[in-house]
Amino acid sequence: MSEITFALNGEAISISTAPDTPLVDILREHLFATETKLACGIGRCGACAVLVDGRLMNACLVRAFQLADKKIVTARGLDAVPEAAMVREALAAESAFQCGYCAPGFTLALIALLRDHPDADGRQIRTALEGNICRCTGYGSIIRGALRAAEAWRQRHGVPLPKP
Ligand code: FES
Ligand code: FES
Repeated sequence: MSEITFALNGEAISISTAPDTPLVDILREHLFATETKLACGIGRCGACAVLVDGRLMNACLVRAFQLADKKIVTARGLDAVPEAAMVREALAAESAFQCGYCAPGFTLALIALLRDHPDADGRQIRTALEGNICRCTGYGSIIRGALRAAEAWRQRHGVPLPKP
């Protein structure tokens, strides 16, 4: 067992765990951050997506020994991001999700994209969300919601429309 310290949604965390424990298990089983979902467990579905020092990563592929002094943000931590409510509203307006299991991962991936590329066009949005799998919707509503969110993001930040 090792003592690991990191920050979760701005809160200092110190836990004792095996160095190879997956971050998704630490979040869900030790810290009850169940907004981070576990599905494939092999980095293929994006259900467990989190931000690690601002970078989108699948928590099932990150191990405890890699967490020292990192800043982890889950979908719940997005509450502190001013644009998050706007993005969630856009997704809801298009009824993007049904069961919602994939929603935290999609939302994190979309916000990470728009934060870095506020002028992202439809192709870039689809590419950015390729790593996220949804078992319910067939993706049409999610993409419509993502495009709507991107439009709202552009308007808020005064970003010119992308070329068609
Ligand atoms: Fe981590 Fe699927 S559970 S990518
Ligand atoms: Fe159910 Fe995406 S809405 S998995």
